[in-house]
Amino acid sequence: MLEIESLCVHYGRREVLHRMTLAPMQAGRVTALLGPNGSGKSTFMRGIAGLIRAEGRIRLGGKDLSSLAVGERSRLAAYLPQSLPPTVHLQVIEAVMVARRAGEAVSAECALRDSTDVLEELGIGHLALRYMDELSGGQRQMVGLAQALVRRPAMLLLDEPLSALDLRYQFAVMDVVRRETRKRNIVTLLVVHDLNIALQRADDVVYMRNGRLVAQGSVMGVTTPEVLGDVYGVETRLEVCPRGLPHVLVDGIIGEDA
Ligand SMILES: Nc1ncnc2c1ncn2[C@@H]1O[C@H](COP(=O)(O)OP(=O)(O)OP(=O)(O)O)[C@@H](O)[C@H]1O
Ligand SMILES: [Mg+2]
Repeated sequence: MLEIESLCVHYGRREVLHRMTLAPMQAGRVTALLGPNGSGKSTFMRGIAGLIRAEGRIRLGGKDLSSLAVGERSRLAAYLPQSLPPTVHLQVIEAVMVARRAGEAVSAECALRDSTDVLEELGIGHLALRYMDELSGGQRQMVGLAQALVRRPAMLLLDEPLSALDLRYQFAVMDVVRRETRKRNIVTLLVVHDLNIALQRADDVVYMRNGRLVAQGSVMGVTTPEVLGDVYGVETRLEVCPRGLPHVLVDGIIGEDA
């Protein structure tokens, strides 16, 4: 499980995350991190991944992450950034194989097999021989996700992995992420802006605003119109469809946001 205590992050002299302490996040469950633009979600993810300096305590499976060497830390945690870095002229399958071999010495044969499997699982096997710099935005995002999954991390940190995806791939990705999280018993934390997909496909939610935790718990346990009003400044109704899935309807905006 992932434990976070008193997490603080500064950019220059400005404190952006204010002593965030969360209940432990259990392995085998998908947690959606939700909050408005600029609330600190990416900062939170980067702090956990060790990409920016963060004060406080972060433990994964009892291990203090700050005590680990950079290489070991990045092997444990696979992080998919919100905006994908520019790509090189590599075939998709090569790019995924490089990711597979980054943290672990495996044979080319094994890397090829695992990479092919993950591309198939994500439904992008047909892209294997295409070049990275000739893909669409959504296709690149899918390959980025394949690179994160193929590394077999103990923790998956996905910052808006659905932002460029069409409706079908959004659900396909959530299903694969859920399946992998359960099968490998890993901790998965992902940022999404689509509240309905989060509520329907995540197990737990963390709501934050202005660099602070607002609520954390199971989807149905903590998602209420009061919390959504507080976090997003919108008036909502929460309904449950005949199949038992939650659905948020937005009726209006509360006040004016500066
Ligand atoms: N590199 C940086 N230097 C200085 N300030 C930053 C930097 N990155 C982010 N910030 C500021 O920190 C705050 C949190 O930003 P962050 O990117 O974590 O928000 P977010 O919740 O991920 O937003 P979004 O939903 O728009 O991606 C914002 O006020 C932002 O302007
Ligand atoms: Mg962000």
